Amino acid sequence: MREIHYDEARVPRYTLPDALRFADGSPVDGAAGWRRRRAEILDLFASHVYGRTPAAASSPVSWETVEEGGAPDGVARRRQVRITFAGAGGVLGLDLLLYVPAGAGPSHPVPVFLGLNFGGNHTVDADPAIRLPTSWVGGPGAGEAHRATEEGRGRAAGAWPVRALLARGYGLATMYCGDAEPDHAEGFAAGIRGLVAPDSAPAPADAWGALGAWAWALSRGVDALQEQPEVDATRIAGMGVSRLGKAALWAGAQDERFALVISACSGCGGAALSRREFGETVARINAAFPHWFCPAFRRYNDREADLPVDQHMLLALVAPRPVYVASAEEDRWADPRGEFLAALGADPVYRLLGTDGLGAAEMPPVERPVRTTIGHHIRRGGHGITAYDWDRFMDFGDRHLGQPAGGR
Ligand code: GCU
Repeated sequence: MREIHYDEARVPRYTLPDALRFADGSPVDGAAGWRRRRAEILDLFASHVYGRTPAAASSPVSWETVEEGGAPDGVARRRQVRITFAGAGGVLGLDLLLYVPAGAGPSHPVPVFLGLNFGGNHTVDADPAIRLPTSWVGGPGAGEAHRATEEGRGRAAGAWPVRALLARGYGLATMYCGDAEPDHAEGFAAGIRGLVAPDSAPAPADAWGALGAWAWALSRGVDALQEQPEVDATRIAGMGVSRLGKAALWAGAQDERFALVISACSGCGGAALSRREFGETVARINAAFPHWFCPAFRRYNDREADLPVDQHMLLALVAPRPVYVASAEEDRWADPRGEFLAALGADPVYRLLGTDGLGAAEMPPVERPVRTTIGHHIRRGGHGITAYDWDRFMDFGDRHLGQPAGGR
């Protein structure tokens, strides 16, 4: 496996596949041509990178409100919805936690940020009414039993500024990624992938991976949000950080119901260009996380130049809907420059579709956000998500989804 490095001088010369040329070399002409090229690119990502989302996974899905109440501090309403998928291999439940501002209702539906969380909905806020996940959990405090405990309440609150979102008129919806698939190499058996194809060993080259399963969960979240009278389902922003940012981009690429898509520090297999081979590489991610991508993606270990796509094309699949790429200066593993260059690489598609694309030709200085239809910032600090990131995401939402009434 090629050595990991952080040296611009060692970035190879590369040519990105042209998003605006069909596989046969002919140029894409206008918006109608892009629709056909879009289908081609989507298929390339499904065949070579993330795997195909099986049609059997889209239904039957049902929803049930399992808990409702006023929270937090009386400025909002909380609702917990159990999303149930019944497949050949059994039943899977996803718990969606929704907060909306107290004034939201059928005559005043609000835009919502929807994102998966890493440790369970109860980690997002100390609110004691949040249900603990019953699925496998990893990370600190999970213990050998891998079960969520009371101690985990609010542990990830720093990554989820619930009150700030509500104060600006937004709703927040979140689900635990592990409900859809526990994040470890054998997790598929307990998740949607195992449920849809219980006996499909060995997996075909284009079998979906965990990132596909998490993207699927985000779309099931949209299904459920469409049923909530306080939610404006035409203004749902799909978001995620790191591995869940990769999943958010893949979800937004496939599912055009996401009005806006945001990734933070998503790096390799997310917003960063694979061909730069800077920081985390294809070979390294496939070795460390063999369950994330489809088996075919391994063909590109140390052979990034052979990929029929690169990640600028993933961002382009969101076009003309607004997409935001957030990076962090010290997060070199995720290759911030490669993330910016992917945003730049998506620009011609956004412009073809009549938007203002990315309003920067060079990588902007730290904390100078770009708010065109392709949004971007690089903030100070390391990997993760901060209040600074969220403030910029809300600014971007105000600009592109329309500032929520009741917001400042
Ligand atoms: C690891 C992994 C990254 C991923 C990150 C995260 O660092 O190599 O690809 O984005 O975890 O999810 O935090």
